[in-house]
Amino acid sequence: MIRPGQAIGILGGGQLGRMLAHAAQDLGYRVHVYEPSAQSPAAAVADRETQAPYEDLAALEAFARSVDVVTYEFENIPAEALEAIEAIAELHPAAGVLRICQNRWREKAWLRANGVPHAAYAEALEGDIEAAASQVGLPCVVKTADFGYDGKGQMRIATADDLVRAAAIFRGRRCVVEQWIDFEREISVICARTRSGETRPFPAAENLHANHVLDISIVPARVAPSVEAEARRLAVRIADGLEVVGLLAVEMFLTRGGDLIVNELAPRPHNSGHWSMDGGETSQFEQHVRAICGLPLGPSGARNPTVMVNVLGDAWKWGDGVVVGEPDWAAVLAEPRAKLHIYGKPEPRPGRKMGHFTVQAADLEEALFVAMALKATL
Ligand SMILES: Nc1ncnc2c1ncn2[C@@H]1O[C@H](COP(=O)(O)OP(=O)(O)O)[C@@H](O)[C@H]1O
Ligand SMILES: [Mg+2]
Repeated sequence: MIRPGQAIGILGGGQLGRMLAHAAQDLGYRVHVYEPSAQSPAAAVADRETQAPYEDLAALEAFARSVDVVTYEFENIPAEALEAIEAIAELHPAAGVLRICQNRWREKAWLRANGVPHAAYAEALEGDIEAAASQVGLPCVVKTADFGYDGKGQMRIATADDLVRAAAIFRGRRCVVEQWIDFEREISVICARTRSGETRPFPAAENLHANHVLDISIVPARVAPSVEAEARRLAVRIADGLEVVGLLAVEMFLTRGGDLIVNELAPRPHNSGHWSMDGGETSQFEQHVRAICGLPLGPSGARNPTVMVNVLGDAWKWGDGVVVGEPDWAAVLAEPRAKLHIYGKPEPRPGRKMGHFTVQAADLEEALFVAMALKATL
């Protein structure tokens, strides 16, 4: 067991690392953040920072030696970096888990091999999109195998013309071509798993995206109890199968026929779990700290129906491509049912996640109504 007072190393300095650092510090842990770029949101709150590239093995080793357990908040960390860390320190979730989840070829192959329902797909090597698309059928979506997030590196293909354009755009890159799912809803379940194999899923969140970026998460998800139960079972089964220690987020589509299909896995805290910071019995960040340190897990229920709204750089006032003013926070700050979180990023940009707010209410309709009204005031 890693006890309060000991040190947790976090690879990655984004907002997930910042909120994870806060949760770790609330439990009395020291936090050391490793991040290549300057002025990161997590380094700003950490006890200690290493600013170095993920290719700097000496810096990684010194970092690993300075802490008692290492975790990550970011998926695009080179395998060599994780192996260097794992040779020195405990790393949770293990490097092998991230290796699978950070690459769509390996992730899909794992789902297929383990009998987890997923969208039909084909691998496209060297940009041979046409052949892959003819296997899968139209409409479909092309996704780069590596380094995708928030819809980056993705293109939906509906027509033969799209196919020609995609072939040019993705030439020379490893991709998956995936059947387009005309889903009823998108949901996610975040499951915590301890070193001894105890699992505890959070309630499913219903996720609404805008421009491929998460916009709103709603808890409880507006799905039948049987769907909720099945979604949690799936998440637990995958966390067990991967032997995750820490959190695993499982993104799913609910088809119009009522089936659940797994879209993506993320072995870390997830944007769709931010509701739990305010509306959960235990926040996802605290749960992750508990799991990787060997503390007992906390209860994972929702205290209240909760709606989480992402605040992107788009909400800033823009004129001719430069920021001329910040969002008007007054209404959110004045609302007793709302709680605002801002990540302290040095510079807003369109599409960049700058913060979020949650709204809790006695019933979901009220929480949704208040959240939408507040969103409009920013
Ligand atoms: N096969 C698909 N069918 C329908 N929508 C999809 C499909 N794949 C992705 N999407 C939409 O795009 C979003 C982002 O895709 P995802 O694969 O989760 O990539 P990432 O989150 O890494 O950017 C999904 O949450 C979903 O809204
Ligand atoms: Mg996703």
